[in-house]
Amino acid sequence: MTRTLIRNGLVITASDESAVDVLIEDEKVVALADPAFAQGWTADTVIDATGKYVIPGGVDAHTHMELPFGGTFASDTFETGTRAAAWGGTTTIVDFAVQSMGKSLREGLDAWHAKADGNCAIDYAFHMIMADVNEGSLKEMEGLVGEGITSFKLFMAYPGVFYSDDGKVLRAFQKGAETGGLIMMHAENGIAIDVLVAQALARGQTDPKYHGVVRHALLEAEATHRAIRLAQVAGAPVYIVHLSATEALAEVSRARDEGYNAFAETCPQYLFLDVDDLARPGFEGAKYVCSTPLRPAEHQAALWRGLRTDDLSVVSTDHCPFCFKDQKELGLGDFSKIPNGLPGVETRMDLLHQAVLDGHIGRRRWIEIACATPAKMFGLYPRKGTIAPGADADIVVYDPNAQQVLSAETHHMNVDYSCYEGRTVTGKAETVLSRGRVVVDKGEYLGAPGHGRFVRRDTCQYLR
Ligand code: URP
Ligand code: ZN
Ligand code: ZN
Ligand code: ZN
Repeated sequence: MTRTLIRNGLVITASDESAVDVLIEDEKVVALADPAFAQGWTADTVIDATGKYVIPGGVDAHTHMELPFGGTFASDTFETGTRAAAWGGTTTIVDFAVQSMGKSLREGLDAWHAKADGNCAIDYAFHMIMADVNEGSLKEMEGLVGEGITSFKLFMAYPGVFYSDDGKVLRAFQKGAETGGLIMMHAENGIAIDVLVAQALARGQTDPKYHGVVRHALLEAEATHRAIRLAQVAGAPVYIVHLSATEALAEVSRARDEGYNAFAETCPQYLFLDVDDLARPGFEGAKYVCSTPLRPAEHQAALWRGLRTDDLSVVSTDHCPFCFKDQKELGLGDFSKIPNGLPGVETRMDLLHQAVLDGHIGRRRWIEIACATPAKMFGLYPRKGTIAPGADADIVVYDPNAQQVLSAETHHMNVDYSCYEGRTVTGKAETVLSRGRVVVDKGEYLGAPGHGRFVRRDTCQYLR
């Protein structure tokens, strides 16, 4: 047995802040105690966290390693993407396995297991993207829930690719209600968007900024409304992914005020970037093309407020990187051909810590939206998302005073640009433990592919 002791830090969870020492045996936290009491503890490894925070490892519930999109693949593999996550203080990802059109959920899931197995630096779990809702795939949902794949993403966007019509959406919600599987919705009216895309291109509006114009905030709000109402009709909960528009948030808030189980996440890009980035000259805006799109900066105040009121309960990254060179460039002369997605798995914890310093959220709320709630939402708590006896020893010794300049030169994601190039943030993961093993320590990488294991998830813990 290996014992590790983290001394003299401030342990922060979603519910408490306390100056206690943390004892780890092998992969698990076994005790927390006042330093005077812990004086008697011995360990093989002692980590001094004086002046540092001791926080649960981040849980990023929305990543897309190697996602096929627009004729190319997201540039991070499970190996590079989970390593970058570890560098940034994230110790669990929930990635999206993809069902392809005409194939079963099983085939998609097997393919994702094959991509991830033996390659991950940190623990991982899967949601399932349902691209082809039919008798067969609906039937398969039950079996997957039993295997720990307890959430399913549907798309009201991307006709001809991932899109499901309202009938399919309703049937998936019904099956969700029956099996306990949580339906996650990409809520944008893709049919209307495609009309606006064709009209824009016909007018010669081909620059990246038009991506944001055609994906109108009201088309996000409309689809969000429709998703929530269809969920209610089916008696199912719903989780809205990558929410970016004030008007969409209003739909979630209304449903929650009415007492329905509607949940939503937003992402750092919607909190820290805006349409001005999408309008950067010389095709640079392509670096900021994602869906839902970046919005005018006015939306950000509503999102921060939503994070405080809990109408937004999770911040995930939607990490889906494409290199500028050769990948984003597929959309030169036609914004609709720019692969959608931004890198971010490495920077989420730090940007949200910056939000603490900027006064948007409190310290415990930081841990709640980045660790505890995503773990509860997706059936990983208290194994993940907190520091408590019995929890996995996924722990970050976080230096709240370290300054860093975000840059593609220094990040570890396999992508040739940073959305935050040159931005200074205060706070940095100093030591990162994944199930008791030190994977990052003071600027040195000590992890290895294959340490990370697949985690079977429980169903959503807010519904019990
Ligand atoms: O632009 C995005 N979000 N790309 C990833 C796929 C998705 O819709 O989440
Ligand atoms: Zn999406
Ligand atoms: Zn701006
Ligand atoms: Zn996504």
